[in-house]
Amino acid sequence: MLSVPYRIRCTGAGIQWVRTVQQAVSNFATEAAKPPPAKTKFGNLKDEDRVFTNLYGRHDWRLKGALKRGDWYKTKEILLKGTDWIQGEVKKSGLRGRGGAGFPTGMKWSFMNKPNDGRPRYLVVNGDEGEPGTCKDREILRHDPHKLIEGCLIAGRAIGARAAYIYIRGEFYNEASNTQLAIKEAYEAGLIGKNACGSGYDFDVYLHRGAGAYVCGEETSLIESIEGKAGKPRLKPPFPADIGLFGCPTTVNNVETIAVAPTICRRGGDWFASFGRPRNRVCETVLMDFDDLTANHSAFGTAAIIVMDKRNDVIKCIARLAHFYKHESCGQCTPCREGCNWMSKVMDRFVLGKARPEEIDMLYEMSKQIEGHTICALADGAAWPIQGLIRHYRPEIEGRMKEYAAKHKQIEYY
Ligand SMILES: Cc1cc2nc3c(=O)[nH]c(=O)nc-3n(C[C@H](O)[C@H](O)[C@H](O)COP(=O)(O)O)c2cc1C
Ligand code: SF4
Repeated sequence: MLSVPYRIRCTGAGIQWVRTVQQAVSNFATEAAKPPPAKTKFGNLKDEDRVFTNLYGRHDWRLKGALKRGDWYKTKEILLKGTDWIQGEVKKSGLRGRGGAGFPTGMKWSFMNKPNDGRPRYLVVNGDEGEPGTCKDREILRHDPHKLIEGCLIAGRAIGARAAYIYIRGEFYNEASNTQLAIKEAYEAGLIGKNACGSGYDFDVYLHRGAGAYVCGEETSLIESIEGKAGKPRLKPPFPADIGLFGCPTTVNNVETIAVAPTICRRGGDWFASFGRPRNRVCETVLMDFDDLTANHSAFGTAAIIVMDKRNDVIKCIARLAHFYKHESCGQCTPCREGCNWMSKVMDRFVLGKARPEEIDMLYEMSKQIEGHTICALADGAAWPIQGLIRHYRPEIEGRMKEYAAKHKQIEYY
């Protein structure tokens, strides 16, 4: 009987948590012999409660297919209920942003509740999706784009926006193509544009393609990029709700966050809120939700999970991440520009074991000096996986150093 302990890495704004979970593969072995059961339930979520029903692209992603799946149903009625009602349902739902920080969406939208000063307002939808291990927004953009476009309209109404800009990572050609075609279909059907859905509300949707820099996913960097500048994060404050896109009040939300809004409005905030903590246990050692992972020195982030078996070299995996963050730093802040480079170099030596044990604490201290001392959270994302590695895998790092020292008389550092 095989018994392979699995490492489950939970990615947030960077991979922050590495933990070993003993899962007997015996289950897998016996299950493999049986014919696959006809699945109608996945975990505790019933089929009728699924929000996204075309993630695998098995059905028509165009308007006709979307209408069959219930998209654009009673959208006019939702729009006519107005800002307070939509914001109220989303607040009741407890929806938290799916872009990484888990910020409450209803609260974010309420930051736009201020007197009109004559400037237009914008909704910006973040489809940059460059987070290591995160592959979810692209499925919505490719296979369910109408959910997102309808979500733009409803969220736009909730914040009084004139238009939405959907920012899609440059490499996502098919995603951008399908979304653009879906926007065209929505215009032609009168669902967006002048008098959207016959509601009397005018709303445009634009698609903007990025050039594939991870840092462009940071909201202010993304705004700069749409404005045609280099994608470098801005200092906050001012926050986008005050000075955002083209100097106007702006709300930035993740693709998934916006795409679930129509279903929440149709089925009610209470329905969405009914899925939660007690029914969310997917791991023996930790609850897979925002609060419990934060309490465990981790973060739910984009809710993306990478599962690796124990044969992977965990030090090498974290070194690979350190390399990624070093490469993606925009260079504006010294702790990030220099620190990510240093951390990556030290991690490369840790992979070989070519270091002294006291350097483990030095690396930890360095990561602490980087964390929280920069314009954006990219540097935090670089620091956290290393801190997680040191917290959970110190004996492995030390063991590697001992092995190296035993093999080599002299350790050269460079
Ligand atoms: C370096 C960096 C990269 C980011 N990349 C993304 C991204 O690809 N997609 C995304 O939605 N949010 C990303 N974020 C988070 C955004 O700044 C922002 O918080 C998010 O889009 C807000 O949406 P939400 O409230 O719906 O979560 C990133 C943040 C940082 C610091
Ligand atoms: S933390 Fe890094 S990526 Fe973010 S603004 Fe500073 S240098 Fe650029």
